[in-house]
Amino acid sequence: MCGIIGYVGDREIVPILVEGLRKLEYRGYDSAGICVLDSGVLKAVKKEGKISELEKEESLRWISGKAGIAHTRWATHGKPDEINAHPHFDCENKIAIVHNGIIENYQALKKILIKEGHTIKSETDSEIIAHLIEKFYEGDLEEAVTKALELIEGAYGLAVLSSKEEKIIAAKKGSPLVIGIGDDEMFVASDVSPILGYTNKIIYLSDGEIAIIAKDRYLIKNLDGKKIDKEVHEIEGSIKEIEKGNFKHFMIKEIFEQPDVIESTIRGRIKGNRIKLNLDIDPKKIKRIILIACGTSWHSALIGKYIIEKYAGIPCEVDYASEFRYRNPLINEDDLVIAISQSGETADTIAALKEAKGKGAKALGIVNVVGSTISREVDSGIYLHAGPETGVASTKAFTSQVIALLMFSLFIRQEKGEEVDKVIFEEMGKLPGKIRKVLESSKKIREIAIMFKDKNNFLYFGRGINFPVALEGALKLKEISYIHAEGYPAAEMKHGPIALIDKNMPVVFLATKSPLSSKTLSNMEEVYARGGKIISIANEPTPEIQKFSEEMITVPETIEELSPIINVISLQLLAYHIADLKGLDVDKPRNLAKSVTVE
Ligand code: AGP
Repeated sequence: MCGIIGYVGDREIVPILVEGLRKLEYRGYDSAGICVLDSGVLKAVKKEGKISELEKEESLRWISGKAGIAHTRWATHGKPDEINAHPHFDCENKIAIVHNGIIENYQALKKILIKEGHTIKSETDSEIIAHLIEKFYEGDLEEAVTKALELIEGAYGLAVLSSKEEKIIAAKKGSPLVIGIGDDEMFVASDVSPILGYTNKIIYLSDGEIAIIAKDRYLIKNLDGKKIDKEVHEIEGSIKEIEKGNFKHFMIKEIFEQPDVIESTIRGRIKGNRIKLNLDIDPKKIKRIILIACGTSWHSALIGKYIIEKYAGIPCEVDYASEFRYRNPLINEDDLVIAISQSGETADTIAALKEAKGKGAKALGIVNVVGSTISREVDSGIYLHAGPETGVASTKAFTSQVIALLMFSLFIRQEKGEEVDKVIFEEMGKLPGKIRKVLESSKKIREIAIMFKDKNNFLYFGRGINFPVALEGALKLKEISYIHAEGYPAAEMKHGPIALIDKNMPVVFLATKSPLSSKTLSNMEEVYARGGKIISIANEPTPEIQKFSEEMITVPETIEELSPIINVISLQLLAYHIADLKGLDVDKPRNLAKSVTVE
């Protein structure tokens, strides 16, 4: 997610823009920039790194004007550096734009623009918007912006500045954008946080709307040019609350973002029941796949093994990166190593990746942070597009990784000329809605959390593709509530853990429909017979599951490969509510870091 702030008015503009970017840093940043209309010239300063790096730029002190736009970037296309930082310009430096979102058809548009003589300077999708506006500009900026937007497929929150007019044009589709109405001054931003210090009168733009903003007036239209009257909201509340939205912690906000994140991970990568991935591999030459990761990412790798072997038909191994890097692994040149990492900076995973590449393996990455070390170390990869994950306990990155692994497996299958059952695409399309169904159970799950929050130990059992979900559920509970928890393959219970079962032992069962359902039911009966208190995650309250369960969380049914995503949401919520009820620091648990950049 990127951050946008724009201002038109008589105050000193640079501090407003830079301070506004600082308020937007929570949306993630890896580079930033500003552009001001200064005596008829668009003057810009752009910098890689944090806002504080931009602030050090001496040239900022020599810029003044009445209209300006600024942007903090969280890269989705193109590494985080000065060239790829926003604002972006047309060929003549007469039009500047800042953009939040993803343009799905930017490659096709870029080819057309280059053929028409435009010079595209950056690797970003966003820059082509400035050239499209230039292509259509014949003196009327609003008309040129409207024509450009009609060609764009994908999502945008956009602010445009021209050297000829002391106004900003803003447009929204799929990425948030608000307008702040001040006294003889106007603001546009990705959210209210950079505006609240100046005015609390806010207009929320809707998809397909365009706003023309001058310092003392604004006009809002739809793309057909029809004027729209919008409600002006008076916003109450602090900046901190805004950053977390209406959520108490970043972790619960990120749990609730997962329907949108799944859509974002898939966006532009499935067209007409075909997977579209730009991977530098020849699927026919891959004889073995090795997944390396740590923590939660290692759990998604375990799920990936099931999916890859089923759909790609290639033997797949999973290794803790910390073990892989030291065990002198046997690597062949037809091995493909895939590093899975939210941060892209985990020291063990980086070292394991280098070890594999040093022995001749081809390398891919499944990473969230664009431009991170792992994303630059691999030959190619899949970015999660999950947006910044602030809570130390990983949630939306995990579900996004599972979807990325499924798309990767289907991509290999289709590239090998094998049929992909369209039911999978249908179920992927329904997934956000089904996740929302689970999120509706949050209140009920909190009631269950009240009953079990004082327990000292938990066991989590799952089978098949849901065994890693048992591991992930246990890790979530451990790392934020400090309650000891263990995940196990359900069939392994009789080989030891069953000795732990008594009336003080809560046992979470992944009991959703699967070819192994009857086996799971037997395991539940074994626990029930020994007085264990079962919390079951099930698709429906069958008589047997009800009989054995102290508590039950029902979740929508889906195909087996997507069931880990549905099921894990309930376990994320259970862990969150227990930790919150215990009054713990959910976002920053003791002893933990968001990214383990040391051994
Ligand atoms: C998961 O909740 C933890 N924060 C931790 O296990 C994390 O998954 C692990 O450190 C790997 O991080 P990465 O995905 O950024 O490489």
